[in-house]
Amino acid sequence: MIDKRERPVDAAPRLWRNARLATFAPGLPGIGAIEDGALLARSGRIVFAGPASALADEAVDGAQVVDCAGRWITPGLVDCHTHIVHGGTRAREFAMRLDGASYEEIARAGGGILSTVRDTRALDVEGLVAAALPRLDALLAEGVTTIEMKSGYGLSGASEIAMLRAARALDDRRRVRVVTSWLAAHATPPDYAGRNDAYLDEVVLPGLAQAHAEGLVDAVDGFCEGIAFSPAEIARVFDAARALGLPVKLHAEQLSNLGGAALAASYGALSADHLEHLDEAGIAAMARAGTVAVLLPGAFYTLRETRKPPVAALRAAGVPIAVATDCNPGSSPLTSLLLAMNMAATLFELPVDACLAGATREAARALGLLDEIGTLEAGKAADLAIWDVESPAELVYRIGFTPLHARIVAGREIAP
Ligand code: NIG
Ligand code: FE
Repeated sequence: MIDKRERPVDAAPRLWRNARLATFAPGLPGIGAIEDGALLARSGRIVFAGPASALADEAVDGAQVVDCAGRWITPGLVDCHTHIVHGGTRAREFAMRLDGASYEEIARAGGGILSTVRDTRALDVEGLVAAALPRLDALLAEGVTTIEMKSGYGLSGASEIAMLRAARALDDRRRVRVVTSWLAAHATPPDYAGRNDAYLDEVVLPGLAQAHAEGLVDAVDGFCEGIAFSPAEIARVFDAARALGLPVKLHAEQLSNLGGAALAASYGALSADHLEHLDEAGIAAMARAGTVAVLLPGAFYTLRETRKPPVAALRAAGVPIAVATDCNPGSSPLTSLLLAMNMAATLFELPVDACLAGATREAARALGLLDEIGTLEAGKAADLAIWDVESPAELVYRIGFTPLHARIVAGREIAP
């Protein structure tokens, strides 16, 4: 169901030679590095990615040749969790939190997500696009070629749909793949305060059906938390998603442990995200279901959390781990996936290679797009990032520096 829209492709064959490849191909150790590599693309697809010595001369006949001068090529980066479409900022709340107010106190007092709802409802689709574009451009300038965008700041049928229309419009406006998530179960709007079931019946579920009918929904998300929706309420949303054949994912175990990750896993969720309060049972359920753990260190950092997600236990259990920005105005005003990788390493002790895989292959897996993107393998889309670095580890290690040389979407190069 996800993201099968046709995109313009560059039909002409193109060969990137004299490159070093970080393929992230399964079966290769670490980042799947190939020195003396070559990558051949045709009609927007990779037809060869491997040692130059293994590429037959006749295969490259007629190809436009790009000399990479030893630069590294990685898969285009994938930001698999963002709330990039929204109005306004929450800079004032940032100051309040520094003065001692907690994120939950601000939310319960009508600020937090609800303050962004007011600012988002004030914008039409074009206004939402204009507000999101500078943030999107910041991510693209870092080599992002696929980005997930959630609704969740409209909280009415019409305004949630407007957010997803804006997401689709951003896909048209820039060379990037946009994947959408229906997140109407993000907070309860004031007119439904204390009446979550009525909000689900009258807004979330009918809105989902309508948005899906308009082709606006690639996946269904929710926020399972004391200040948001209970597991039983989220289960109602997931049942509706299942009936429509849509995959699910969940904001789970961010501020407390309600068993959201295990619930999501029981629905075969693509991912469970945040996970600071995840327990052993949740880890085991995710491992069984193959649900990806999406780490969002920008929110952990911004909220000055102290409890970390159980990264070592997730890795020991074989749960795939992705890293994303969670770009949103409240808990993670972050428009740098490179910094998110750095934070995942420094704050969560995720190994460097796992951070790189987390923003490429595992993020693609978290979007259900691993057959299409996320590794440098023949048959996949030719979405690439070319970097001026000595080694890909530099992408994780540097802070506030973007060594992007070129960004390629569907085989076509776009200046960074
Ligand atoms: O992913 N956790 C819930 N949602 C967002 C925060 C939204 C907000 O504060 O505006 C998140 O962190
Ligand atoms: Fe989020």
